[in-house]
Amino acid sequence: MIRPAVIVITGASSGLGTALAAAYARPGVTLGLQGRDAQRLATVASACIAKGAVVKTAIMDVRNKDGMRKLIQDFDKTHPIDLLIANAGISAGTLGTMGESEQQVRDIFAVNVDGVFNSVLPAIPLMQLRKRGQIAIISSLAGIRGLPSCPAYSASKNAVRAMGEGLRGTLKDNGIEVTVVCPGYIKTPMTDVNNFPMPLLMSAEKAAEVIVKGLAKNRSRVAFPLALYLPLLLISYLPLWITDPFFAALPRKTAMEKK
Ligand SMILES: NC(=O)c1ccc[n+]([C@@H]2O[C@H](COP(=O)([O-])OP(=O)(O)OC[C@H]3O[C@@H](n4cnc5c(N)ncnc54)[C@H](OP(=O)(O)O)[C@@H]3O)[C@@H](O)[C@H]2O)c1
Repeated sequence: MIRPAVIVITGASSGLGTALAAAYARPGVTLGLQGRDAQRLATVASACIAKGAVVKTAIMDVRNKDGMRKLIQDFDKTHPIDLLIANAGISAGTLGTMGESEQQVRDIFAVNVDGVFNSVLPAIPLMQLRKRGQIAIISSLAGIRGLPSCPAYSASKNAVRAMGEGLRGTLKDNGIEVTVVCPGYIKTPMTDVNNFPMPLLMSAEKAAEVIVKGLAKNRSRVAFPLALYLPLLLISYLPLWITDPFFAALPRKTAMEKK
């Protein structure tokens, strides 16, 4: 969608969500910003209002299925949603550890998969009625192939990538655009805890700029940076037994740390 006027962003209180909110904020735009941290969300809202946008904020956990449904339905009644960006997500890094414990595997799926469903699914029938709308799902380059450094995180991102790619075909005839976003490393609180080299780390503002352009062009997949995406894509087509050693050697966190 070239110029969405009503945009909902989950996980807008930090990192990429904040940068996306700022990138879209301008006169004539209404933003529905969701997060859990009221203070950070209010700061983001103030910055977007200063840029001329109308902003509604909601403190809500994306794991709350009924809460998310009501939130999206209520918001849509007064502000029919043009673009919904399912961005809220966590990693073991966000959760403050180096590995993925069993509980964290479940937490990662609850937020990154169920949370995306809870955000996207209530919006679909509303958009179907209007025969217009756009849904963006924030996956990751980690969702292209299962990664030994973060199996649950990459599995969660793979799941929502496949869901988005499927929905794109399912909803095309309903006039609904669906884009899956697969970024590489972005400098945010999620990656600030990483103590290993992150190739081609980019700012959240730059990432938001690439995403906004990709969404305006209704790209099926917005994957970047290309210098990381293309080799990863090529490698992912090779037999697993050839690429296993390469992926096993990828850098990962080496010590317990807290956010
Ligand atoms: N950073 C990267 O390198 C990178 C790369 C590829 C993809 N991504 C994806 O980009 C998205 C944003 O990540 P980020 O790097 O910006 O991380 P971040 O700075 O940690 O921000 C995560 C956002 O998600 C929200 N969130 C987390 N759990 C939530 C829950 N249960 N309910 C509601 N909101 C919740 C947080 O809200 P509160 O802070 O208010 O709790 C915060 O606004 C994620 O989906 C992530 O997987 C990030």
